[in-house]
Amino acid sequence: MAKPTHHLFVCGSFRANGERQGVCHKKDSISLLSYLQSEVQDRMLDGVEIAVTGCMNFCVKGPVMVDYPAGNFYRVPNNDAINAILDAIEEDSVCEEFLLAE
Ligand code: FES
Repeated sequence: MAKPTHHLFVCGSFRANGERQGVCHKKDSISLLSYLQSEVQDRMLDGVEIAVTGCMNFCVKGPVMVDYPAGNFYRVPNNDAINAILDAIEEDSVCEEFLLAE
């Protein structure tokens, strides 16, 4: 497998003991993850990989996603945010509207 150009990590609110607790989980980040996976496939985005993570300590802003290796942290309140972020990735830019930190 080639190194991803964008590795998108969606917070699944997993804690060290494996339990899911936190804002991202409560705001149904896993549904966002499903939409993200289907949208990346539909757009045929080469070099984009997706994973789910534990808490990233941006809980108040959740659901949260980080784009590595760029290191851009995004809030993803809904599918529209995912579309805007993927649009930016396709344009090789940053989605300022949903950017938390870079
Ligand atoms: S639960 Fe998602 S950042 Fe903490």
